[in-house]
Amino acid sequence: MQRKKIVAGNWKMNTDLNEAIVLVNSIKQQATKYKDVEKVIFPPYLFLTELSEILDGEANFATGAQNCSEHSKGAFTGEVSANMIASVGCAYVLVGHSERRTYFNESNNQLIAKINQALENNLKVVFCFGEQLAERKSNLHFETVKQQLEEVLQHFPKEKLNDLVLAYEPVWAIGTGETATPQQAQEMHAYVRKVLSGIFGAEVANQLSVLYGGSCNAQNAKELFACPDVDGGLIGGASLKADDFCKIIDSF
Ligand code: PGA
Repeated sequence: MQRKKIVAGNWKMNTDLNEAIVLVNSIKQQATKYKDVEKVIFPPYLFLTELSEILDGEANFATGAQNCSEHSKGAFTGEVSANMIASVGCAYVLVGHSERRTYFNESNNQLIAKINQALENNLKVVFCFGEQLAERKSNLHFETVKQQLEEVLQHFPKEKLNDLVLAYEPVWAIGTGETATPQQAQEMHAYVRKVLSGIFGAEVANQLSVLYGGSCNAQNAKELFACPDVDGGLIGGASLKADDFCKIIDSF
C-alpha cells in the first residue's frame, strides 16, 4: 500500500479573519492540480468554521486544529474540545507540537489524553515529536525520539492507528531557518519506522505517513520529499504565503 502524501500548514498564532480567508482561497485556487497530495490547513481555532466551509467538497483538502483539550467537556474556561472541533467540519488535530510541550508544559499524559479525545471524535491526529539541539549535539537524538514515541503511542491499539500521522520536527530547525539535511531527515525517518515497527509491527510501520517539519520551504522541500521515508511536510512560516506553500505541495 502506498503511503499517503501530506503537506500541512501550521499557521500558529498568525492571520486575522480576513487574511485567513484570502490565504486559504489563494491556496485552494492554486493547489487543485496536486490531486493526490492531502493538503491540511491548521489555522487558529477561531477561523476553523469559516475555512472548513471554504474547503468543503474540495478533494484532498482538510482543516485541522492546532490543539485540543484533554477533557471532553465541562468547566474548563477557555478550552476547546475535540467534539467542538469535529462539529465545525474539521478533520485533523495537532498534538505534541514542541511549542506546546515547551511553552505550555504539556506532559506525555496530557498528550495521550488529547489523542484519545481526538480519536474518539473521529479526528485524525498529527503527532509531533523531535529532539532539542542539545540532545542532537550529545548524540541523544535517536534515544529522545524513541522515548517520545514509545511513551505516548504504546497506549493505543494498532486498530486505532489509521487515523494517526507522525511529524518529526527537530526543535532546532523550527522557525530557525536551519533545516535538517535530507540525510539527517531520512536517517531519522527510517529510525522512526523501526521504532514504530517495534511497537506495532512492520506492516503498520510501513503504512503510517511520517512528515518532516522544521524550516521546510519552497527551496528545500523537493530534496526532503525525495527521501524514501519522508511522506510530506508540516510547514510553519512558509505556509503563510500561498505561492510558497503551493510550491512545497508541488515538490513531490
Ligand atoms: P517552521 O515551523 O516551518 O516555521 O520551522 C514548523 C512547525 O512548527 O510546525
